[in-house]
Amino acid sequence: MEILHFPLHFIFITLLTTAVGLSRSADTITLSQPMRDNETLVSAGAKFELGFFSAGNSSNRHVGIWFYNIPVKTVIWVANRDDPVNGSSGVLQIGTGGNLVIVDGTGRAVWSTNTTNMASDSVAAQLLDSGNLVFTDESNNSLGNFLWQSFDHPFDTLLAGMKLGWDLRIGLNRYLTSWRDSDDPSTGDITYKVELQGLPQKFLRRNASVIERSGPWDGIQFSGLPLSPNAIINPEFVTIAQEVYYSYQLINDSTITRAVLNHSGTLQRWLWNNNTQWTVIHELPNDSCDEYAKCGPNAVCRIGDAPICSCLTGYTPKSPQEWAMFVWSSGCVKKKPLNCPKEEGFVKLKGVKVPDMLSYWVNTSMSLDECRTKCLKNCTCTAYTNADIVGKGSGCLLWYGDLLDIRKLIQSSRSQNVFIRVMASDLGHHKWKLRLVVPVVTASLYLAILLLLCLWRRRTKKRLGINGRFI
Ligand SMILES: *[C@@H]1O[C@H](CO)[C@@H](O)[C@H](O)[C@H]1NC(C)=O
Ligand SMILES: *[C@@H]1O[C@H](CO)[C@@H](O)[C@H](O)[C@H]1NC(C)=O
Ligand SMILES: *[C@@H]1O[C@H](CO)[C@@H](O)[C@H](O)[C@H]1NC(C)=O
Ligand SMILES: *[C@@H]1O[C@H](CO)[C@@H](O)[C@H](O)[C@H]1NC(C)=O
Ligand SMILES: *[C@@H]1O[C@H](CO)[C@@H](O)[C@H](O)[C@H]1NC(C)=O
Ligand SMILES: *[C@@H]1O[C@H](CO)[C@@H](O)[C@H](O)[C@H]1NC(C)=O
Ligand SMILES: *[C@@H]1O[C@H](CO)[C@@H](O)[C@H](O)[C@H]1NC(C)=O
Ligand SMILES: *[C@@H]1O[C@H](CO)[C@@H](O)[C@H](O)[C@H]1NC(C)=O
Ligand SMILES: *[C@@H]1O[C@H](CO)[C@@H](O)[C@H](O)[C@H]1NC(C)=O
Ligand SMILES: *[C@@H]1O[C@H](CO)[C@@H](O)[C@H](O)[C@H]1NC(C)=O
Ligand SMILES: *[C@@H]1O[C@H](CO)[C@@H](O)[C@H](O)[C@H]1NC(C)=O
Ligand SMILES: *[C@@H]1O[C@H](CO)[C@@H](O)[C@H](O)[C@H]1NC(C)=O
Repeated sequence: MEILHFPLHFIFITLLTTAVGLSRSADTITLSQPMRDNETLVSAGAKFELGFFSAGNSSNRHVGIWFYNIPVKTVIWVANRDDPVNGSSGVLQIGTGGNLVIVDGTGRAVWSTNTTNMASDSVAAQLLDSGNLVFTDESNNSLGNFLWQSFDHPFDTLLAGMKLGWDLRIGLNRYLTSWRDSDDPSTGDITYKVELQGLPQKFLRRNASVIERSGPWDGIQFSGLPLSPNAIINPEFVTIAQEVYYSYQLINDSTITRAVLNHSGTLQRWLWNNNTQWTVIHELPNDSCDEYAKCGPNAVCRIGDAPICSCLTGYTPKSPQEWAMFVWSSGCVKKKPLNCPKEEGFVKLKGVKVPDMLSYWVNTSMSLDECRTKCLKNCTCTAYTNADIVGKGSGCLLWYGDLLDIRKLIQSSRSQNVFIRVMASDLGHHKWKLRLVVPVVTASLYLAILLLLCLWRRRTKKRLGINGRFI
């Protein structure tokens, strides 16, 4: 008996495999192998599944991708979020013109990849283990040469390996958009984008209004998201001529995690654990000081202080009545006009998220001292800092006019110091008085350091961040 068992079992599996092989290759759609509503694709390593699903009790059907290897159905991407198929007659197939299309019972295409004309019999769609649905021309299929990929059209979820941000060569901006409601995957009001006005920053918005901003990349991290122990992901931010994007890799490939834009207006990092199932491990905004411009212009937000908002040195509440009632949005104004251009200096604000890029100037090779001199020369310059904090710091970032959305960081061991312009009388015992230009020996030393930094920066253009509070 024992001897017979093995061959029978073997034959059964062989038959099953052949049967599946006849109907379709399990992760692929071709002209002769469409995917009907009652069928699904499963990626080769059984990590993700693609199929039709309904949200809530609706009869509307959407094509989506969800995790295959966990018992809780968790949709990470939807194709036709705003154009569902009514009932179970939908098919995902190769259409005329060689597009991947979803057609309803009447044969109408409700969704299409809109790729340019290809021969229908040479294209195929495949679901990869990364969760990416890729569409390729099989007659021209060198690695990564996709006609279309779902990772270029994100939904509400950022998975490892996805890019959040820009391919500047083709003007593609990849960003997250929330569900409209917990049981409606159509396009919602909340977005999470890398924006290029000023230095690149990530913005969480409800329609046009900002909920939270990351601050600019300071060479190690986003200024507003300081480092904290996180053994799960390796974040990176790439800014080169062709691309500007945020992305992350898993430290351990067996980790199941996702960053999701919740329709309530938060960005959440979820982690799967077989016992506790999905749990939120980070959330943005995390506290009141993360809320954009919480204290209005020229003020700083400090969690733990009572009240949390205070004016910058040399500034006073614009509306003391409002401030007395903890309504801070009108912020602060200068106590008296600066006696510009003399009798001024700077006070150092340590470990803060730098102000928003409303009106700024940047030079990535200047030193902090040159930056200070540059700021002093222009009476509308209100603050300056290093553009990059790697090593001893480099570059010059300075602001004109109002300073908005400054917060004290909770972990601030390696974060930015901002120098705020004040009158001599506000300097107290600080030694930040006006000091005119730099001795010649120091200047040539700067040049040498600058040269070294330039060489080093060139080698590390695509720089990995340390594990941080990244979502
Ligand atoms: C799905 O439905 C079609 C049409 O009703 C049927 O021919 C096919 O066998 C079904 N496939 C599966 C896997 O049930
Ligand atoms: C779906 O239907 C069930 C049973 O009719 C009901 O209890 C539930 O509230 C409905 N859910 C939604 C989201 O409408
Ligand atoms: C969907 O189809 C059902 C049954 O054919 C129909 O009663 C319903 O009105 C349709 N819904 C929409 C939104 O078209
Ligand atoms: C394809 O093009 C149509 C018409 O221009 C557009 O409505 C649709 O959103 C496009 N589909 C995708 C997936 O971009
Ligand atoms: C193969 O793909 C590349 C990149 O999409 C394209 O530039 C090239 O023209 C294609 N070659 C053929 C023979 O279609
Ligand atoms: C966002 O914009 C949509 C569409 O314009 C509108 O219906 C909705 O009320 C807006 N939401 C808020 C919170 O303003
Ligand atoms: C990755 O995680 C799995 C499951 O938790 C664990 O068994 C494995 O040892 C980890 N691998 C490494 C290299 O840490
Ligand atoms: C949105 O956030 C709430 C609160 O954390 C959570 O209960 C809910 O499941 C989230 N929704 C989604 C779609 O993740
Ligand atoms: C979690 O459960 C899945 C499916 O039951 C199993 O394959 C996996 O090994 C489990 N992971 C851990 C870390 O126990
Ligand atoms: C979130 O805010 C709480 C309260 O201010 C703080 O203790 C915690 O460190 C913050 N978490 C992160 C990851 O910054
Ligand atoms: C940046 O500053 C350096 C050193 O002062 C200067 O040589 C360079 O021309 C500046 N670049 C720009 C774009 O202003
Ligand atoms: C100071 O900077 C502002 C903003 O860039 C500019 O408009 C103005 O011309 C500058 N003033 C001087 C004296 O350079």
